[in-house]
Amino acid sequence: MFRLYETDKLALSRTPRDLYESLEFPAPYANRPYCYINMASTLDGKIVVGQPNGTAAGVGSSMDQLLFRRLQSHCDAAIIGATTLRASNVIYPPETIRMVITASGSVPLGNRFFTDAPERAYIVCPASASHHFAALPTKGPHLIVAGDEVVDFPYLMNIVRNELGVKLLLCEGGGTINEQLIRHDLVDELFLTLAPKLKGGANLHTIMDGSGFPPGEFASCKLLAVLGHESELYLRYKIVTR
Ligand SMILES: NC(=O)c1ccc[n+]([C@@H]2O[C@H](COP(=O)([O-])OP(=O)(O)OC[C@H]3O[C@@H](n4cnc5c(N)ncnc54)[C@H](OP(=O)(O)O)[C@@H]3O)[C@@H](O)[C@H]2O)c1
Repeated sequence: MFRLYETDKLALSRTPRDLYESLEFPAPYANRPYCYINMASTLDGKIVVGQPNGTAAGVGSSMDQLLFRRLQSHCDAAIIGATTLRASNVIYPPETIRMVITASGSVPLGNRFFTDAPERAYIVCPASASHHFAALPTKGPHLIVAGDEVVDFPYLMNIVRNELGVKLLLCEGGGTINEQLIRHDLVDELFLTLAPKLKGGANLHTIMDGSGFPPGEFASCKLLAVLGHESELYLRYKIVTR
């Protein structure tokens, strides 16, 4: 592990053993949690190295996996898209609230995302998909309906903050969910692992897909930290504005 650039002087003495163990985040907003995204990509931006819509395993190193778990340990709640849930078992600390976004209603209820802590699991869908979840067990997973035909993310974030009491939210992708949250100005920070790999292919997702910003528009980011291990980089950015 070596330090390239770090605005937090306290981090100078950190080693891989304690990196990201004592992160600090600003307070939440009145109408939404403070939100950070964590993703791993190849140098050419791909977030899987296997089949499209498959597991993200193999993108980052074992060090990335360690930091990935550490970044999970700070949040009150985590959010993912249904394609990410369908790709593999998704595991969080048992106390973590976990939410999955779906419009199709196709969510694998046997995934550890649900079975590890059903009482803390939430399925989020628009009204048009709520009939898929008419018979959920009373102990959970629970249903949140937000939006008519698609999930309305600003509305959802207000519910997450003010009804679930979430202060710090982690988004773990995929690129479809990331793009909507960022485009609606609902994300504050991006943690990005850059794996020293080149994958190629136009059909594999990136950290931010969907429709994207209109021509000439983009979100600007301010570098907070760069750390490295062997040839892999761990970037921390503040998403400033667009
Ligand atoms: N390398 C990494 O760090 C990393 C991290 C996470 C994921 N991944 C990979 O990324 C891939 C998945 O990314 P993705 O972009 O295809 O999918 P995604 O963001 O995980 O999920 C997309 C799905 O979420 C639901 N959805 C999204 N927006 C919605 C809205 N506004 N209203 C209702 N439902 C909505 C839909 O589910 P339904 O289809 O059920 O309607 C949609 O198909 C997987 O291969 C995964 O392994 C990689």
